[in-house]
Amino acid sequence: VCLALFLGLIFMVLFEIFRINSRRGQIPPGPRPLPFVGTIPSFKKPLEAFRSLSQYGEISAVYIGRKPVIILNTIQVTKEAFVQEAFSGRPFMPLVDWLSKGLGIAMVTFGHSWRQQRRFALHTLRNFGLGKKSVEDRVLEESRYLIAEMLKAEGKSMNPQHDIQNAVSNIICSIVFGERFDYDNKHFSYLLKILSDHFMLSGTTAVQILNLVPFIKHFPGPHQKIMQNFTELLGFIRNEVREHKETLDPDSPRDFIDAYLLEIEKQKSNEGSTFHEENMVMSALDLFLAGTDTTATTIRWGLIYLIQNPDVQERCHEEIVRVLGYDRLPSMDDRDKLPYTYATVHEIQRCANIVPFGVAHETTQPTKLRGYDIPKGTVIMTNLAAIFSDKKHWKHPDAFNPENFLDENGNFFKPESFIAFSLGPRVCLGETLARTELFLYITSLLQRIHFSWPSEPQTIDMDGVMGVFHFPQSFNIICRSRDTKE
Ligand code: HEM
Repeated sequence: VCLALFLGLIFMVLFEIFRINSRRGQIPPGPRPLPFVGTIPSFKKPLEAFRSLSQYGEISAVYIGRKPVIILNTIQVTKEAFVQEAFSGRPFMPLVDWLSKGLGIAMVTFGHSWRQQRRFALHTLRNFGLGKKSVEDRVLEESRYLIAEMLKAEGKSMNPQHDIQNAVSNIICSIVFGERFDYDNKHFSYLLKILSDHFMLSGTTAVQILNLVPFIKHFPGPHQKIMQNFTELLGFIRNEVREHKETLDPDSPRDFIDAYLLEIEKQKSNEGSTFHEENMVMSALDLFLAGTDTTATTIRWGLIYLIQNPDVQERCHEEIVRVLGYDRLPSMDDRDKLPYTYATVHEIQRCANIVPFGVAHETTQPTKLRGYDIPKGTVIMTNLAAIFSDKKHWKHPDAFNPENFLDENGNFFKPESFIAFSLGPRVCLGETLARTELFLYITSLLQRIHFSWPSEPQTIDMDGVMGVFHFPQSFNIICRSRDTKE
């Protein structure tokens, strides 16, 4: 029996190698996969391994399990693909389906429900924030709280993670739930902690195995912690919905939840409506999750780069104080007057590269790309790790240098390769909000606070940690108030 099993196994492996080889030429080139497990498990340092896929050309392929995944390695081919609806689906992932039951916006495939939910969320974000220009006011108000909170620990070694995460989250919370949370609110702090854990754990290989072997969800393992965290986050949203229902005034919607409750009523008799309570809960959770750790993680990377490059920190501070003084907080209209600072904010995003492989897309119909036939249901990823360090497109691809976003006259310019928010129909829904937050938070922090390491020299692992996002490792800093009488 053992011999028969052994021979069977050898036969399966040989068959698998034959299957992979026979498809060469039909699939873009890439590193040789291991039978059944694919290429990804052999990536020891995922960021470097992904970046190096560009050696195979504009398009390459890796294998997740037995399935080829197409990797877009340049800005040109990403643009060519992502502007098309055929490339705008989302792959079915057992882990995501287990958690979100195919509802919400971010992980839902291209189609009627995604279109309705996305359009409604965009419209409501504009109505309860961006359109009225009040998001700017909200961020500025919040940046005052953030500065005060950070300076409470002036001169002492402190970890800025919670304060930054809370400040950023308060903006999306004020749009979605109509409220902000104090930095010492224990329950909200706990939710932010499990939100970060969720993004960190969901990216680990141990949990990703569930996508290859879905039935393990019935057994103990780290994925159970993900479900537990997710259930707690859902509980928070459901509680908000319950409170909103009790206090809703149909003539005066206060936020996303109110607007959604009214939309459910409005669309009740419409057969094609995808507006129902569970979709509302999941869309609100998507906004809360996507609207918190993305921007907060970028700002944390920003502090690291600014402390590592004190000359850049000083130059930004001097420019800000020359234009605004110490008292006037920045506005988005100041961007043109603060080209060096604005370029620094973009350079932070390029180097932080918090979504280095993009968010996976899937083809919604058979299509072609650069001569390859791509079947319906093929997973497509964009290699931002390679695009953001492409020597042909960046003056200083391997260094932190705001000059990457400045022309020869010192004016800000955005190279076409800067696609941190992706592009096409699935472009980040929160792009305008995130750009507002990044510029206003970073500028007002640099105006008022000097950042340094607690003790020199400090070794910071600039590779960071890969979860769902590219996170920096935990770090402590010293904040000192800039002397306003200088
Ligand atoms: C999607 C980046 C902030 C909401 C995405 C995608 C990227 C991205 C790369 C995937 C696009 C694609 O599939 O091609 C970022 C970065 C941010 C940020 C770098 C901050 C620095 C935000 C914020 C919100 C948000 C503040 C809150 C409203 C979303 C949503 C999606 C998305 C809902 C899914 C869109 C869809 O599938 O149609 N983001 N994002 N993001 N983002 Fe952001």
